[in-house]
This record gives sequence, C-alpha cells and structure tokens, in this order.
Amino acid sequence: MDEFTRRRFLVLVPAAVGLGALPAVLSGCGGNSGTPIDGTVTVQNGEATLLFSQFPKLQSVGGAAVVSASTGADYLVVRTGATQAAAFTAVCTHAHCLVGYDAGAGRLLCPCHGSEYSIDGVVLKGPAIAPLATFTATLVATGITIKVA
Ligand code: FES
Repeated sequence: MDEFTRRRFLVLVPAAVGLGALPAVLSGCGGNSGTPIDGTVTVQNGEATLLFSQFPKLQSVGGAAVVSASTGADYLVVRTGATQAAAFTAVCTHAHCLVGYDAGAGRLLCPCHGSEYSIDGVVLKGPAIAPLATFTATLVATGITIKVA
C-alpha cells in the first residue's frame, strides 16, 4: 500500500504543478494578451470613428491605436500618411494575441511569438501564415473612421 501511495503521489504532483502553470502558458497566447488596448469605440451602422481627442497618437503620421469595438472585435488603426490611414483586425492569425504597429519598421508586429505583417496585412515573418483582415479607414476632421461591416 505504501508503494501504491508513493507511486500515485509521484504521478499526481507533477500533474498538479503542470496544471498550475497552464494559465501562465496560455496567457502568452490568449486573445487578451499582446499589445495593450488603447481604448474602446462604438460601432454604429458598420462604422466606428476613433476620435483624435480620445486617440491623440492618430494625429501624427506613424501613430497607431488598438481599440476594442462594441461588437467585441479588436482593431489596429494606423495613421499611414497625412491624409491616409489603414485598419486591420488586431488579432494575430497565429494564436490570437493583439498585434501592434512599429512605425520605425513600418510593420505590424505580434509580441507573442514574433510574427510580422506588412502595412497591407500580408505575413512577412511567421509563425503566422494567414494575413490580417483589412478594413477601409478614412481620415475625417475629428479622427479616423473605420468601416468594419
Ligand atoms: S500569436 Fe503567435 S505570433 Fe502572434
């Protein structure tokens, strides 16, 4: 009986330790990890406007913001030029971390496992293999409007 108990202990303890570490492992790949969310936006009639007053980084070329929309989707919006902007799903196609924008590199980067995307959403470096979905982004007087539906 002692041997059975000892054997069972040796099986159960590592399993329990492994399960205890599981949340830490999963947090590196969860939808809520990766690039921090800068704020929230409300989608109405398939559109949302990121106001400069709420996202001042978007007033400058190279500025970007990750937003959580009222629909539950997360978007990355980048000010790509004086009169231009781009919008993407912020969810990396590898394991669903949120991607950010590196203005110096001109690329979208995923901090979880290093995937890189072009400013068109095309994969430049894995492990991601699928592109990011893109959305129409238009500069308006008060901010950037994205069309998401
Ligand atoms: S979640 Fe793995 S590279 Fe983005």
